[in-house]
Amino acid sequence: MTNTVLVGAQWGDEGKGKVTDLIAHDYDFVVRFQGGNNAGHTVIHGDRKLALHLMPSGVMYEQSTPVIGNGVVVDPGVLIKEMAMLEAEGISCKKLKISCDAHIIMPYHKDLDGADEKRLGENQIGTTKRGIGPCYQDKVARKGIRLQDLMDERIFRLKVETALSQKNAILQKVYGLHTYTVEEICDEYLPYGNILRPYMAETSQLLDDALRAGKSILFEGAQGTLLDIDHGTYPFVTSSSCCAGGALTGTGVGPKAIDRVLGIEKAYVTRVGAGPFPTEQRYAEDGGSPEEAAIGELLCQEGHEFGVTTGRKRRCGWFDAVIGRYAVEVNGLTDVALTKLDVLSAFDTIKVCVAYECEGKRYDYFPMQQSVLFHAKPIYEELPGWKGQDITGCRAFEELPANAQAYVKHLEEITGANMSFVSVGPDRDQTIVRNWYR
Ligand code: GDP
Ligand code: IMO
Ligand code: MG
Repeated sequence: MTNTVLVGAQWGDEGKGKVTDLIAHDYDFVVRFQGGNNAGHTVIHGDRKLALHLMPSGVMYEQSTPVIGNGVVVDPGVLIKEMAMLEAEGISCKKLKISCDAHIIMPYHKDLDGADEKRLGENQIGTTKRGIGPCYQDKVARKGIRLQDLMDERIFRLKVETALSQKNAILQKVYGLHTYTVEEICDEYLPYGNILRPYMAETSQLLDDALRAGKSILFEGAQGTLLDIDHGTYPFVTSSSCCAGGALTGTGVGPKAIDRVLGIEKAYVTRVGAGPFPTEQRYAEDGGSPEEAAIGELLCQEGHEFGVTTGRKRRCGWFDAVIGRYAVEVNGLTDVALTKLDVLSAFDTIKVCVAYECEGKRYDYFPMQQSVLFHAKPIYEELPGWKGQDITGCRAFEELPANAQAYVKHLEEITGANMSFVSVGPDRDQTIVRNWYR
């Protein structure tokens, strides 16, 4: 039995949902370990496209148990709606287990997320405004409210009262926003507690028992390496540990439980929200030259690059091997799934960034200072494409056009990654499995 951590290797939206869904049937447990409903993971169910925000993508298979770990921040109203949506699609959520240690996103977290972005003006991060940052802030400040608190009305009321004595003052005095009463929060949240109670569990113990019994676990990451609070492009990051290490603290299993770390990488790069992005091909409205904008628009159009959670148009750019190498390093990637190779069939030639140049200096590795990343000029290699050849039907690596094979092999070489999967379309079966075993 192998236990695998699956993480995004770029700035999120790499296709984690698709790959989790593809391999989940091999695992007894599929566990989310960080983030919240800022995530948007797309899975295909029959002829329907489903967006999952909190539910582990493994919910699609009856044989695997979906688990929401302690490192996740849970908006209970959103989770309950997502469960209802899945049930309506004929997908059972009855096996779901939620850590009673997971923190709850409260209404004031969402207000503060939006208000703080407004305050930052031009310097805003471009958050999903789902209350993620403020909820993790309270967790670290030891002021958070956890799902287990919903199990005891007296404790929940007390915690809400204590929280509001500070939050209401901030909402009103700093941001001029409306305040909350203990009653209105309890009226909304205590019923959520009643609905979620049957699913709450001591999930760290559950997973430990599972490991001792020889069961297998897939840890499903959200966001991506460069959005990690420690290893990402701070402050243009999310507030959780999206790298492989987060799978341990976010679930309560020990490091020896992990056998493999699978990074998901697009064959190009996208980013939603603000922050440095060296290979970005800026849209005209963002100041891109006509050549740049044409490439950006083509990537966006062919890849349908619009956010699953917020609907925002994703920024697009060429594959960046500096980031690729960094992701291998900070996550200890043993494998990579390269997704959306089919999108590149629209190009005559394809550029790949191999290093950066900034003020006359070459950077082969992720620069120490963020300001370098902001001003970095990509050093590109240009590879021949396979334009016009439809690769979405390829199921074996050898079936890919020679230039597509060469592209994948070249990325492996310059990033030091072992590309075990190549994805050539959104469907589960539109995947080339190269050397994945479990
Ligand atoms: P996640 O957040 O990492 O799970 O990724 P998203 O679901 O936000 O975005 C990935 C998008 O790409 C989804 O619309 C997927 O259906 C789609 N997708 C995944 N793999 C492929 C692929 O190989 N080719 C194409 N064309 N689309 C893909
Ligand atoms: P998945 O799991 C892409 C980005 C936001 C913003 C920054 C902080 O689908 O890959 P937050 O709301 O988390 O405080 O926003 O992080 N972001 C994502 N970008 N995919 C995601 O999730 C993201 N989750 C957050 O756009 O730049
Ligand atoms: Mg997404």
